[in-house]
This record gives sequence, structure tokens and C-alpha cells, in this order.
Amino acid sequence: MLHGRRSDKADALKKVPLFSGLSRRYLDLIAKQTDEVKEEAGAVLAKQGALGLEFLLLLEGAARVERDGTVIARLGPGDFFGEMSLIDGMPRSASVIAESPCALLVVQSRSFRSLLDEVPELSKKLLVTICARLRAADAKIASLN
Ligand code: CMP
Repeated sequence: MLHGRRSDKADALKKVPLFSGLSRRYLDLIAKQTDEVKEEAGAVLAKQGALGLEFLLLLEGAARVERDGTVIARLGPGDFFGEMSLIDGMPRSASVIAESPCALLVVQSRSFRSLLDEVPELSKKLLVTICARLRAADAKIASLN
């Protein structure tokens, strides 16, 4: 999906909700820092307890988020993961496992941190999603009580 010239890649990135609305300059910057990888169904994309080395975004396919063997969320195209460890330096909070063949956008931790510094709008968008995940987790806990 994102192969070809960097300008084509930036055009494709514009369609990813996390990056929509960003200026051309920022899209070009992000295009420079990202790689696309493919993974098979069943691949462990992030491992609970491991050191976080990269931020990942699902372009195609589906994945589940598991904590201590329990599924806590499901992810699809446009969803990202792996941001928590890169932000707080703690081990991966959960495992993320591909449920179908996946195409992913990968950003190495150093590039992710510099993108957060250089693209304020990206940080805000990440925060909105992290808030949504916290709200969903809170609602789930409340429904259990
Ligand atoms: P990280 O802790 O780096 O690695 C595991 C990732 O799973 C984590 O970052 C988040 O991106 C993702 N994750 C953890 N908990 C949830 C949740 N409740 N909902 C969606 N994604 C989650």
C-alpha cells in the first residue's frame, strides 16, 4: 500500500486517521521515518513484558490485545499500538497478536520520540486515543462491579 516514491507514501499516509489533517511537511517527515512490514496470522507483534522498541500501526488486517492471556481489545485497520512503552519506558503492557495476515507501519522508538517532538498534532491525536482506551477500560471495570 505504501510502496513507491516518498511523495506517494505521504499521500497514502494522509488516509490513515492518525495522520489525517497533518500538513504536507509533516506527512513527508513521517513518511521518512516509517517502514511497511507484512506479518502472518498468529505473529506476535508485541510481547507483554518485553522492552518496547517500536510503534506500530495496522494498515490492513486484524489483531487482538491480550493481557495475561485475556483478550482486552481488538484492533483493525487504522489502529495503532506499542506507544505506551515508548512513552513511559516501561515493559510492554500487553501482547498484540495478528489474527489475519497484516500490513503494518513501523516507527522505531527514536524516530517515534522525535516525531512526537516535531509534530504536536500527532501527540494530541495519540492522547485522544489513549483517553478513549482508558474510558473503555474504566467502563469495563465498572460493568464488572
Ligand atoms: P505497549 O504497552 O507499548 O505494548 C502493548 C500495547 O497494547 C500497548 O502499548 C498499547 O498500544 C496496546 N494496549 C494496551 N492496552 C490496551 C487497551 N486496553 N486497548 C487497546 N490497546 C491497548
